[in-house]
Amino acid sequence: MRKPIIAGNWKMNKTVKKAVEFVKEMVETMNDCPDMEIVVFPPFTALHAVANVVRDTNILFGAQNMYYESAGAYTGEISPLMLADIGVHFVILGHSERREILGETNEIINLKMKAALNYRMKPILCVGEKLEEREKGKAEDVIHSQLVRNLQDISKDEMARTVIAYEPLWAIGTGKTASPEDANKMHAFIRGTIISLYDKRVASMVRIQYGGSVRPDNIGILMAQPEIDGALVGGASLDVESFVKIARYTL
Ligand code: 13P
Repeated sequence: MRKPIIAGNWKMNKTVKKAVEFVKEMVETMNDCPDMEIVVFPPFTALHAVANVVRDTNILFGAQNMYYESAGAYTGEISPLMLADIGVHFVILGHSERREILGETNEIINLKMKAALNYRMKPILCVGEKLEEREKGKAEDVIHSQLVRNLQDISKDEMARTVIAYEPLWAIGTGKTASPEDANKMHAFIRGTIISLYDKRVASMVRIQYGGSVRPDNIGILMAQPEIDGALVGGASLDVESFVKIARYTL
């Protein structure tokens, strides 16, 4: 059985004070949480403070991005060594906002994947198609190509530790969610691609999250789909009450 993983990607939001207040409340409200993983992704500036609050609790945390070299003359970048140093468990890689706004290529994302896995972090690899690609019937081709290129030279053991987030670009921040059936179909396609690149055993271990306008009112129906193992939540993860409702979708 794959453990459900509900994650909050805060993007470029929250001061250190707000981030600490949020996780303190999460720790208190979720101390009885069922057998699942709950992960928050604060901005870099709040990571260390959040790490100190969630240590030895059932709330996990991660970084929204990182560079692929361990150290050196890369002004403004944060390395996997630095993240591992403060106990980061997860790192989001290849988010569409980084691909589209910051020009990250599939090759750069692949280098980042290898670096994160070398440092024993679990990457959440984001893949997703644009609206025009879906309308032209090219959604599966786009996802397939992203997976093949982003996962190049990743071993079976490393793949088993990787989480994939399917985030169709037209559903991010738009209030438009993919229908549970369409999302499930794409998740099944992603799992099939992992079977062809690896094998059935590995594919059965990889968790696939859905992301794109996930809210307290649609999480239940999304999680009821057999291929949906979790959610990567943006806007609705910024408010504790709403994120707790999402994390408690089973109750
Ligand atoms: P929204 O939940 O705001 O649509 O964002 C999704 C997302 O990009 C999570 O990484």
